[in-house]
Amino acid sequence: MPLSWNEIRQNALSFSKEWETESSEDAEAQSFWNEFFKVFGVSRRRVASFEKPVKKLDGRDGFIDLLWKGVLVVEHKSRGRNLDRAYKQATDYFAGLKERDLPRYVLVSDFAHFRLYDLDENKTAEFPLKDLHKNVKHFAFIAGYQTQKITEQAEEVNVKAANRLGQLHDQLKDTGYTGHSLEVLLVRMLFCLFAEYTSIFEKNQFREYLEQRTSEDGSDLGMHLTQLFQVLNTALDKRQKTLDEQLADFPYVNGRLFEETLSVASFDKKMRETLLDACAVDWSQISPAIFGSLFQSIMDKQARRNLGAHYTREANILKALKPLFLDDLHEELEACGQKSAELIKFQNKLRNVRILDPACGCGNFLVISYRELRLLELEVLKRLHKKETNRLLDVKGLFFVDVDQFYGIEIEEFPAQIAQVALWLTDHQMNMKVSEEFGQYFARLPLKKSPHIVYGNALRINWEDVAKPAELTYIVGNPPFGGKQYQSKEQKAELIAVFDGVKNASDLDYVAAWYRKAADFISNNKMIHVAFVSTNSITQGEQVGVLWPDLAKRGVKIHFAHRTFQWSSEARGKAAVHCVIIGFSLSEIRQKSIYEYDKPTSEPHKIQAQQINAYLVDAVSVFLNKRREPITAQAPLIEFGSMPNDGGNLLLTPQEKDALLNQEPHARNWLRPIMGSEEFINGIERWCLWLAGLDPASLRGMPKVAERVERVKEQREQSTRGATSQLAKFPSLFGEIRQPKCQYLAIPKTSSESRVYIPMAFLQPTVIANTELFTISGATLYHFAILSSVMHMAWVRNVCGRLKSDYRYSAGIVYNNFPWPEETDKQHQKIEKAAQGVLDARTKYPQSTLADLYNPTTMPPDLVKAHDALDKAVDEAYGKTSFKNEAERVAFLFTLYQKITSPLALETKNSKPKKTTKKKAV
Ligand SMILES: C[S@@+](CC[C@H](N)C(=O)[O-])C[C@H]1O[C@@H](n2cnc3c(N)ncnc32)[C@H](O)[C@@H]1O
Repeated sequence: MPLSWNEIRQNALSFSKEWETESSEDAEAQSFWNEFFKVFGVSRRRVASFEKPVKKLDGRDGFIDLLWKGVLVVEHKSRGRNLDRAYKQATDYFAGLKERDLPRYVLVSDFAHFRLYDLDENKTAEFPLKDLHKNVKHFAFIAGYQTQKITEQAEEVNVKAANRLGQLHDQLKDTGYTGHSLEVLLVRMLFCLFAEYTSIFEKNQFREYLEQRTSEDGSDLGMHLTQLFQVLNTALDKRQKTLDEQLADFPYVNGRLFEETLSVASFDKKMRETLLDACAVDWSQISPAIFGSLFQSIMDKQARRNLGAHYTREANILKALKPLFLDDLHEELEACGQKSAELIKFQNKLRNVRILDPACGCGNFLVISYRELRLLELEVLKRLHKKETNRLLDVKGLFFVDVDQFYGIEIEEFPAQIAQVALWLTDHQMNMKVSEEFGQYFARLPLKKSPHIVYGNALRINWEDVAKPAELTYIVGNPPFGGKQYQSKEQKAELIAVFDGVKNASDLDYVAAWYRKAADFISNNKMIHVAFVSTNSITQGEQVGVLWPDLAKRGVKIHFAHRTFQWSSEARGKAAVHCVIIGFSLSEIRQKSIYEYDKPTSEPHKIQAQQINAYLVDAVSVFLNKRREPITAQAPLIEFGSMPNDGGNLLLTPQEKDALLNQEPHARNWLRPIMGSEEFINGIERWCLWLAGLDPASLRGMPKVAERVERVKEQREQSTRGATSQLAKFPSLFGEIRQPKCQYLAIPKTSSESRVYIPMAFLQPTVIANTELFTISGATLYHFAILSSVMHMAWVRNVCGRLKSDYRYSAGIVYNNFPWPEETDKQHQKIEKAAQGVLDARTKYPQSTLADLYNPTTMPPDLVKAHDALDKAVDEAYGKTSFKNEAERVAFLFTLYQKITSPLALETKNSKPKKTTKKKAV
């Protein structure tokens, strides 16, 4: 157990006094260092040895004055000698050390001065002997007070640590030691490695035991580990008196971590070496929040190749935790000031926080929540006891926040185990922080309290069996996203069962089930607040109309929302996931907040909101459902393009077209350009055989074309879909034909989110639109104008579905629900004129594709101006001259939508909307 800092300072003063006159390296150096270690309550003999022989960089033999393997090299000189040289000499020895024995610290001294190099941090501390008592904290690593630095840069050591255990995992697995036993063994080894770096065990205790007591060929290592685990699971007074002394020195850990009896693993020389290598990582520096996920991914060789890309960044976790409860707690602490009664009340509140993560993985959300609560409690206690000298305090009785305040559900066993251990490791790291702060060693050993992590399926178990609603305060996590097409049969069934009769529940992402389960759970305690990270698709497109009316019926109110942002930017070669975070409860709160992102990768900015609807907009609550026809008479009908359903046989690249025409020039009459979003926006040339009206004799006269038709027939016949095989009867035709007969407005289905406007254009009926284009037959300049306006784009951006982050325009949700303006004739004319201005501006750049014209960087200034004028004219038609921002614009549209649709809702379901008004065709 480490000495208190006060004791260490006292010892340091005596030490400086005793050694102030010593000068000869040879005579007294070893006693000097023995005494030096004693200052920190550590026996030098236990951790380090003198005069370690080693081959130097130049190949000659040398002797390290003092070596603590993997931690410290000391080089000692006579008084007044050059310390730079001493440092050089110390580092020359590194060449002769095993990788795992390389030290993090180099300490040089001439009795009168100390100079300590921290090679990891690239820092140096230098001071005279007489000031040792003022500098003892530099030697926290000797005293056993080393605390984990809470930085995101901790990644390197975490990755290194996970890799070492990953190797061991592979080696054990290759020998046939697998499954549950392997997982438990690895989690236990993780604990032991961490323990010897953080004063749970004595320094080097685990490593020494392995090095000294197991044979080099590794054959008895498994047996020794088994025995050690038994010891760690046995209270001191229950241990056999004859127990080996070295084993008896290990503490009682409890917490049931070492309870289960595992089959004994067989190790070999290489595996023993790997474990010893793992001992060389500084385990005090691992971050349980990050390490858990890394550790989990070591199980999977594929995932390990990209280690570091698989964990959730702490900053992202805090995006959920801060608005859910941390921001409020920090504010409350500030309000307490230095008032003892308030601080004590606040500490009680901290103890009563209870958090459930119902898809906890390795427990990262719980770990960070716990760490933050402990930091708040530490601050409370610092304020409460700042006047008392630390000597009079008994730190043990002061701290109450503990791991039993955390609950988790996880479907995989290994991460569930890691989550449990990660919370204990965090507990210990925070205890070390307390020890450092109060100068008193504080540890909770044996472990008495346990986190409540349940290994099970959150959608099948009753959450009330995990945590009591009356006791719980928060639910948080990032449940599995699971898009509609990516769910397994079982997951789909679970989703449908959770939504119990809700129409179209099978269209929802898997994550939606956690919302419904949480809403049901908190109906038993309306004080519980919830926040989930989710795919943004539950707030867009079709899913809104399925999920949110159901939640609203249960009284769910959104309190805060992070709008779409990129969740994991690290994953190399992996598509980034676009997420939202939604905080909600069944009660109202005064201050609601929306976190906006200019781009999915940018930093959020917070705005206050009156109300937050399912689209995460500060606007009236509406849920858009798919409609077959537009809600306003001004909007003409929109259609999908035609679907070839031809296995590619009716489609041709320009080269294929030319080759065909070389052989069969008559085919020219039956070839048409065809476009989807890609071709339309990027000006890509594609052709199709459009054989409507072709007589059999002409087809016979074009054998190459006939061959293609034959292949369409075969392909359709082979289909298992009844409708497709029926189409085999008409092999010369597209499967579904919806080609307009007159000029039409084309709207691409998919368009990059980086564009301010989705580019639209008029096309002639000879250009075939495939299903990646929407078509509006006979559209006028006015229709083009409204749909190309910033008003419509604001609507699109907020209600459309997405493909990754690209806009997915839709007829049923986006177009048919859009509220058109009721313009005057004058406004109508002005809008048409402005629309013509946009088309005219485009024609000045005949070489440019729509992609070029609408790329925000390359968009020509006159086209920008033309759009500005158009936007202004359209705004006027809505009776507005300006909007503060897009949020206000969308709120306006939602209100208008509600005005238009509320009377409609009263009409009978089957009433038809009015027909399109005829306007001048272009
Ligand atoms: C997106 S991960 C989040 C885990 C962790 N918070 C993180 O950031 O790494 C979702 C977790 O939910 C777990 N999970 C998936 N389906 C589950 C279910 N039906 N019940 C409980 N947990 C589930 C997965 O194993 C995974 O650990």
